[in-house]
Amino acid sequence: MKDAADAILRPEQAAYLDGIEPTRDPLLVEMEAYAKANRQPISDPEVASFLAVTARLSGARKIVEVGTNIGYGAIVLARAAGPDARVITIEHDAATAAVARSFIERAGLSSQVEVREADALAALALLTDEIDLVYIDCVKEHYPAYLDLVLPKLSARGVIIADNVLWKGLVAAADVPPHELGRVQALRTFNHAIVSDSRLRGVVLPLGDGVAYAARV
Ligand SMILES: C[S@@+](CC[C@H](N)C(=O)[O-])C[C@H]1O[C@@H](n2cnc3c(N)ncnc32)[C@H](O)[C@@H]1O
Repeated sequence: MKDAADAILRPEQAAYLDGIEPTRDPLLVEMEAYAKANRQPISDPEVASFLAVTARLSGARKIVEVGTNIGYGAIVLARAAGPDARVITIEHDAATAAVARSFIERAGLSSQVEVREADALAALALLTDEIDLVYIDCVKEHYPAYLDLVLPKLSARGVIIADNVLWKGLVAAADVPPHELGRVQALRTFNHAIVSDSRLRGVVLPLGDGVAYAARV
């Protein structure tokens, strides 16, 4: 299971939740081991489970992931949404995108998942189709700008999920180290919009490193 310390759960609570997980998918387990060995920041398994439930429940057909890394979230989303869904996932690093494509191919999802090699802000600005589900998991300082770009493109029952919005608890801390201030301020702005923008009904969940979850209203 994951190695990172939980920022929100107490250790015994995290161990309990790990212990009740069913048998894991071997490819995802391999990807978790690859990510650990190569210090790649993939989503937490519990966040992946949340993505899968939401993709399934929402009936999303057009899914956009902001931040691909090795393709872990994209594979989870595509599998859960089913063969009629399409996932565009955005990654600016060519070598990382190549690793993602090879895992996606091994998952048998190459025709369903497109890894778009580009800067996330530029790629989001270029998207023209409606989006049913967007998973934001990229540059924390850019979360407010990602939201501004995706909100007008969200379909009538569209869903936004964003990872790491409590940022190791620092988003709620009184004293924030100077080197974290830019990220923390951007995440505070983003979380405020998630719960108060009149176009959304949203909540911040204490899952993983904090997950924002909002539906278009
Ligand atoms: C946290 S990881 C994504 C994890 C992935 N969503 C998952 O579920 O496993 C963030 C990724 O965003 C990429 N990234 C960073 N800056 C970016 C940018 N400006 N545009 C596109 N991708 C970027 C990083 O290279 C990294 O692979």
